[in-house]
Amino acid sequence: MILVTGGTGLVGAHLLYHLIKNDEKIRAIYRSEEKIKAVEKVFSYYTDDTSLISKIEWFKADITDVPSMIPAFVNINKVYHCAAFISFKPRDYREMRKVNIHGTAIIVNLSIDAKVKKMCFVGSIAAVGDSLKGELITEENEWNKEQDNSGYSITKFGAEMEVWRASQEDVEVVIVNPGVILGSGFWFAGSGKLFSQVYNGFKYYTEGVTGFVGVKDVVQAMILLMNSNVKNERFILVSENKSYKDVLFLIADALGKKRPLRKIKSWQTNILWRVSSILSIFTRKEPLLGKYAAKSAHEVSKYSSEKIKQTFKIQFTEIETVVKEVCNNYKK
Ligand SMILES: NC(=O)c1ccc[n+]([C@@H]2O[C@H](COP(=O)([O-])OP(=O)(O)OC[C@H]3O[C@@H](n4cnc5c(N)ncnc54)[C@H](OP(=O)(O)O)[C@@H]3O)[C@@H](O)[C@H]2O)c1
Repeated sequence: MILVTGGTGLVGAHLLYHLIKNDEKIRAIYRSEEKIKAVEKVFSYYTDDTSLISKIEWFKADITDVPSMIPAFVNINKVYHCAAFISFKPRDYREMRKVNIHGTAIIVNLSIDAKVKKMCFVGSIAAVGDSLKGELITEENEWNKEQDNSGYSITKFGAEMEVWRASQEDVEVVIVNPGVILGSGFWFAGSGKLFSQVYNGFKYYTEGVTGFVGVKDVVQAMILLMNSNVKNERFILVSENKSYKDVLFLIADALGKKRPLRKIKSWQTNILWRVSSILSIFTRKEPLLGKYAAKSAHEVSKYSSEKIKQTFKIQFTEIETVVKEVCNNYKK
């Protein structure tokens, strides 16, 4: 039987659909019933068959709570670990360490105890190092702990370290490091906000560049890796390196909305994050913009996915095609 963590999130929900479609026996961790409804919505983008979701064995647990997780591992031989806490807010750092590093350590320890055969961990390009001369970043670029890394990046790297520990204890592991993942559902959180904000008239863009990938390509790669003989390797998953400007424009066009018009320059975000963090001391509200979100909006980082493409002879869907499909679902 397969255990999926984070099944009520963007990646996990799409993964569950593709696993269930293949008649796999699945146990999925959840924390609240209302998030299972969000998974049903994701399934509805693929099929009218409403019975599919009932084939999943839903298991209420928290990955940071060992007693709740122990019974989840009974009869499990494969684990897809997608659960994580994603945030660029400084005040979320402690919680991110707890969920991303400590939570992954618990999944690893229980996988070792349960003699799990293979685990797929969803990492991030945030845990891959930069390239020095603007060359394409590959799996070989080492993450540098001396750099000014975001809390998210630190915890995703820490989580990977836990996963490598499993590989030393007879659990085969594969790690995927996706870029920004675009997919249908969860419109008001994470990368889903790109769609809802443009729909609601978001006016600003930056010219930073990063890797983007469709969620279907991410889950396809995860399943291929888990069903293959590949073990103890990491793979960057990026379809195209694009500017935020280009992606926001693609989304606006596909939604039939106005393109964001106002370019925000690096010095403007630098002032904004400083001013908003000072203001937040007085207002006790979240700063409008954090330091690392401001920084990444202008960074130019380009990634190579040649390793996964060569391993399985696959191609990723173009971002324009992904955006059009996701926007069609948004409009529904
Ligand atoms: N989205 C992206 O653009 C992106 C890019 C690169 C890598 N990633 C990585 O991909 C993975 C999945 O991301 P996503 O976009 O699917 O995230 P998401 O939509 O925010 O989903 C996160 C999932 O983790 C679960 N979770 C969080 N804390 C938990 C806890 N303490 N116990 C049990 N479950 C917990 C959430 O459960 P609830 O539903 O109960 O909150 C949810 O199912 C993460 O590892 C992330 O770092 C994402």
